[in-house]
Amino acid sequence: MKRLCTLNRGLYPNTMKFLVTGSTGLIGTQIIKDLTKTGNEIYAGYHESKPLGGIPVQLELTNNEDMLNIVKEIQPDVILHLAAMTNVDRCEKEKKLASQINTIATKMLSEQSSNNNSFFVYVSTDYVFDGEHGLKSESDAPNPVNHYGYSKYQGELAVQNKASRWCIVRTSTPFGIHDIKKSFPYFVIENLKERKEINILTDQYTSPTYVPNLSRMVIEVSTRQIQGIFHLAGASRISRYDLALLVSEKLHLDKNLLKQTCINDIKWIAKRPRDSSLDVSKSAKILKEKPLSIEAGLDYFIDEIRYKPN
Ligand SMILES: NC(=O)c1ccc[n+]([C@@H]2O[C@H](COP(=O)([O-])OP(=O)(O)OC[C@H]3O[C@@H](n4cnc5c(N)ncnc54)[C@H](OP(=O)(O)O)[C@@H]3O)[C@@H](O)[C@H]2O)c1
Repeated sequence: MKRLCTLNRGLYPNTMKFLVTGSTGLIGTQIIKDLTKTGNEIYAGYHESKPLGGIPVQLELTNNEDMLNIVKEIQPDVILHLAAMTNVDRCEKEKKLASQINTIATKMLSEQSSNNNSFFVYVSTDYVFDGEHGLKSESDAPNPVNHYGYSKYQGELAVQNKASRWCIVRTSTPFGIHDIKKSFPYFVIENLKERKEINILTDQYTSPTYVPNLSRMVIEVSTRQIQGIFHLAGASRISRYDLALLVSEKLHLDKNLLKQTCINDIKWIAKRPRDSSLDVSKSAKILKEKPLSIEAGLDYFIDEIRYKPN
């Protein structure tokens, strides 16, 4: 990590300093876009690709020195820790690296947040649950079925043990616009427009989350510094197939190109939870920004695609 020159706080007494890791990812890109409009001082931790806003800070989660120095140098009021190894099958194949990135780095950052008295927000996943029964609430016990879920759950435990003030945010199937990452509805739209048949799971259920809605909820818990575990996800439990069907109906695309398949037909390296939908009633009650239904989230997403400049 290169040495950083931070802004003089005396000039901006009411602003907060945010350090965001994973600022170039699907969720991080939107959070950086939204946070930079708040007038706060934003440090955008990046790995390989450069962030689109904030003050860029290069950060390698497997480099212990980076983990030790970044918080000391920036002295953030809030750390938003999004960076992770998110490819579920790769995590299964490279368990040691996945644990280093998703668990050990989280533990080190949590310790540093505590030393600096920063508020620590950890973005975790619906994959901490086994998916035997859906609509899990924050008080249900995690029981991951693959190494990605396990390494993220161990990250959650590290946050609870090491950070002094923390919030753990679990989300599910985020969808939004990103230059590289194609979220599920986008994949459906592209294929149906090109009149390609696609196989879609009828028996995998999640709580798809519109990324700008998630970003606003994450920023709210961070700025209000609300402590505890929160399910910040979409308000609808839906199967992949029904989601694809809804996308096709909204855009008047040919739903006959959607071919039904089920989890047992797919040869994944890592096992997937069958129903990792989340109960979002706690967040809906406490937050001003409410979790959106899939209908509303998709409508916003489709509008965003329509008006996106090329
Ligand atoms: N996507 C999902 O389906 C999903 C669902 C539930 C929860 N989540 C959680 O939400 C968070 C954000 O997810 P996302 O979908 O936005 O992830 P993403 O698009 O895969 O982005 C991951 C981010 O982590 C960074 N990163 C990866 N390895 C790194 C390393 N060794 N050192 C430093 N940075 C590193 C990446 O930087 P580079 O691009 O430069 O490598 C990127 O900015 C993650 O913690 C994830 O577990 C995701």
